[in-house]
Amino acid sequence: MSNYYITTPIYYVNSDPHIGTAYTTVLADTMARYHRFLGKSTYFVTGTDEHGDKIVRSAAAKGIAPQAFVDEISSRFRVLWPTLHAAPDRFIRTTEAEHVQLVQTILQRVYDRGDIYFGEYGGHYCTGCERFLTEKEMMDGKCPDHGTVPEYIKEQNYFFRMSRYQQWLLDHIAEHPDFIRPERYRNEVLGFLREPLEDLCISRPKSRLEWGIEIPFDKNFVTYVWFDALLNYLTAIGYDHDPNWPAYWNQAEHLIGKDILKPHAIYWPIMLKAAGIDPYQHLTVHGYWNFKDAKISKSSGKPVDVAPLVRYFGADAIRYFLIRDMVVGLDARFTPDALVQRINSDLANDLGNLFSRIAKLVADYFDGKMPKGPSSPCDLALQAEQLVAALPAFINEFRLHTLIEETLQLVRATNRYFESSAPWALAKTDIQRCGEVLYNCAEALRIAAVILHPVMPAKMSELLSRLGEPIEQFHIANSVAWGRLRSGTALQSGTPLFPRIDEKQLPEAFPELFGSTPGPTKAPSTPVTTDLIDIQDFSKIQLRVARIVQAEKLAGSDKLLKLQIEIGSEKRQIIAGIAQHYQPEEIVGRLIIVVANLKPAKLRGEMSEGMLLAAKSDGKLVLLSVESDIATGATIS
Ligand code: MSP
Repeated sequence: MSNYYITTPIYYVNSDPHIGTAYTTVLADTMARYHRFLGKSTYFVTGTDEHGDKIVRSAAAKGIAPQAFVDEISSRFRVLWPTLHAAPDRFIRTTEAEHVQLVQTILQRVYDRGDIYFGEYGGHYCTGCERFLTEKEMMDGKCPDHGTVPEYIKEQNYFFRMSRYQQWLLDHIAEHPDFIRPERYRNEVLGFLREPLEDLCISRPKSRLEWGIEIPFDKNFVTYVWFDALLNYLTAIGYDHDPNWPAYWNQAEHLIGKDILKPHAIYWPIMLKAAGIDPYQHLTVHGYWNFKDAKISKSSGKPVDVAPLVRYFGADAIRYFLIRDMVVGLDARFTPDALVQRINSDLANDLGNLFSRIAKLVADYFDGKMPKGPSSPCDLALQAEQLVAALPAFINEFRLHTLIEETLQLVRATNRYFESSAPWALAKTDIQRCGEVLYNCAEALRIAAVILHPVMPAKMSELLSRLGEPIEQFHIANSVAWGRLRSGTALQSGTPLFPRIDEKQLPEAFPELFGSTPGPTKAPSTPVTTDLIDIQDFSKIQLRVARIVQAEKLAGSDKLLKLQIEIGSEKRQIIAGIAQHYQPEEIVGRLIIVVANLKPAKLRGEMSEGMLLAAKSDGKLVLLSVESDIATGATIS
């Protein structure tokens, strides 16, 4: 049996969990469940990062000792995850004795090999990132992620000779194209590696920071948080003492947000190399969840608390929304509207309602027992088979949003089949055919429920039990074959699987989320209809889907961004007046809509070959995009 080892970042305990940290945990949990489903022996690890300046400051602000502080916040993470149906195999803490010992062993080994030396360094330290920023990384003298001015620190410290391994890392990335994915992050890392790598300061004098792991070869120093934190990935699988550790390490997949790309893509593989350990297999990077145009985070003051959302909407509905609405690698917006729309439309209407309709007719005409299926399968069987065949690729390539969408397409096709076959009418004219139609619908729904089980484990287990096929230990091959649903078993109708959300009640339940009206605050001031045009006039405009591959501010303008876009195989440059609404780095990778047949024009000396579409209201501007992934160059009609 092959293995799969998946990790999340270990979260800082200077703040409570929020929807951003919940996303990574839910995604890792879902991936772990899918890999189990593919028949692999899977190990999923998450935990907390408990040393460093930030923690000491947060503990001091609360007037308690660091250990008491980390114990409390760490346990908030640990107890939250099961409420979201996330089931890690190990919850690791960097203050555990096993971890402290491993960090000291590796430090000593790297020191003995001559890759750690003592020296002096001055630099700009960002406590939010817990690392020195280079001049190039700072924007207007501030950290671009935290918006704070880093502290200038000059002192004697221990340094890790990263520069020695720069060429090795470049070669490794070149030889392993999916080492860092998606590709845009691989390119970002190759960009960092174009500049000479500076050696990494890996210690803090105890006179300035006590809350860390002591350096084994100098008692006056503690180790730097990243050197400590990254090694959790080895502690968690029992590096060097559990006989199974190599089998898991060979298949290690680290899942992270884009904020911590550099430590994971550069420091970590080099640390492993210097310690004589093979690098991990994959680093998969996802974007940010934004709320009201800002990254959801504690420090930016825009946290979205998970626990109340879980209590109100249910863990599985939140999981479904998070996995369906983010394309791994790109940013996504957390909007209350989108959440309610997903629950009411996909879950209550398409999925839950289909079960209720089947169960009602089975109760009315077949004494509540599943009728017999037809002797030959229907078209739904073919659609289900194609979906099942594509599952391993969707899973291995982290395309879970597509996997969900394709599964919902099967559910929607089943609803259409139900409508067009009219089993309620057949019940009066051809009871055998009525039973066959109901069987086909129930079987398509069962397969959809098995496929969605890793995303919504509790709800899909309930649905499968109600269909008379409770879930056992299964994997794809033997559970999604058409025709496995048994006839004669009892269906349990019961209450709706996903109750509809009453939007009117939400502003009161979540004033901070739903309080200010989602969507436009008032009707747009421009009248909706002006002069009417013929369809021929509209058809002159060629609208195409494009991807932004590069974005930068246009020198000398605070309104314009210079974008390099890809439309099918064509590359173009466009100048867009969106700089006051979007940061260049947040839109790279996004799919947009462009007018492709506009005459090129020069703006501020730069050619613009097309125009992107955006919606505007009351000073707010949002880019137009497509609802799900589609090839660039796709036409719009
Ligand atoms: N302690 C370090 C990681 C050490 S790993 C060896 C750290 N902790 S953190 O608490 O700041 O967590 C950062 C991670 O939380 C991100 O990489 C991402 O996984 C998740 N997210 C935090 N905010 C997020 C969003 N707004 N959107 C998506 N993910 C978010 O960095």
